[in-house]
Amino acid sequence: MVALFVLALLVAAAAGRDLRMDGRWQSYMSTHGKVYSMGEEVLRRAIWEDNVQYIETHNRAADQGEHSYWLGENQFADMTTEEFKNTMNGYVMNPHHQVKDLHVPTISIANDTVDWRTKGYVTPIKDQQECGSCWAFSSTGSLEGQHFKSAGKLVSLSEQNLVDCSKKEGNKGCQGGLMDNAFTYIKKNKGIDTEESYSYSGINGRCRFKQASIGATDTGFKDISRSEDALQMAVSEVGPISVAMDASHKSFQLYKKGVYSERMCSSTILDHGVLAVGYGASDDGEAYWLVKNSWGMLWGQEGYFMMARNKENMCGIATTASYPLV
Ligand SMILES: *[C@@H]1O[C@H](CO)[C@@H](O)[C@H](O)[C@H]1NC(C)=O
Repeated sequence: MVALFVLALLVAAAAGRDLRMDGRWQSYMSTHGKVYSMGEEVLRRAIWEDNVQYIETHNRAADQGEHSYWLGENQFADMTTEEFKNTMNGYVMNPHHQVKDLHVPTISIANDTVDWRTKGYVTPIKDQQECGSCWAFSSTGSLEGQHFKSAGKLVSLSEQNLVDCSKKEGNKGCQGGLMDNAFTYIKKNKGIDTEESYSYSGINGRCRFKQASIGATDTGFKDISRSEDALQMAVSEVGPISVAMDASHKSFQLYKKGVYSERMCSSTILDHGVLAVGYGASDDGEAYWLVKNSWGMLWGQEGYFMMARNKENMCGIATTASYPLV
């Protein structure tokens, strides 16, 4: 029964294939190193063709000024949005989230524009691969910044250490977690290993933490109250800040450049952890948050994206922000 259904799907997909797109499909597969079995390729091709159509329709509208951002064929262009959400978005919301130790700004006005990358606070773009470990990359990102601020040295920190070892604090490795749980683990554990000593594999593994190779430590964390003004003050004063967002839409899966804004985005149902490294306004005056993602250099603007800022907390970017204390 199931086999018959799959066969029917394959035939339908093969029949719908647009032969003029053969060359483009070959080049898509080679650009992204895609290797499929015979049966799977037919399905992937059909999904990719749908996504290419979605991208081209969106981009034509964006060229006419109807959107502030453009889409592109990235490594997720052969996935349905359902598959994409299930594999990539591992921020597991805490329904009982209570802000405990609140960040209190010591500055009275925030800068107009901030980009911590230019000040040496930010490591190169990383890639979580097919593992829901976004929360670990968001955590290392803000600790890398705070460690640089206090120690004057930028040290890339180990996400795999967090994936393998912070279960007791409530994280679930590739099945998801929370940045604040990671900061708590690092405090209790008296450190986190360097990326170099404990490299990323993207699968759940046995904990191999070694005290001798720690790259940084923290003494807890501060949460930021739920407002874009508070987040702006914190990014201006503190450094890169861990944030969560709703990343469950096809428009984000296929985002390429520009200021992201999605009518369907939720500001309360969040599923992805990322790192706010700055903010500003584009040439045509659109305010944005500058955000580091963990999906490699081929996604977005060489791994980064701009999220609409001061647009009713777009995609929940200011809903559960925090940073580690060092
Ligand atoms: C904010 O502006 C001041 C004055 O121009 C500058 O010294 C400082 O580096 C800026 N801070 C950030 C985070 O860019």
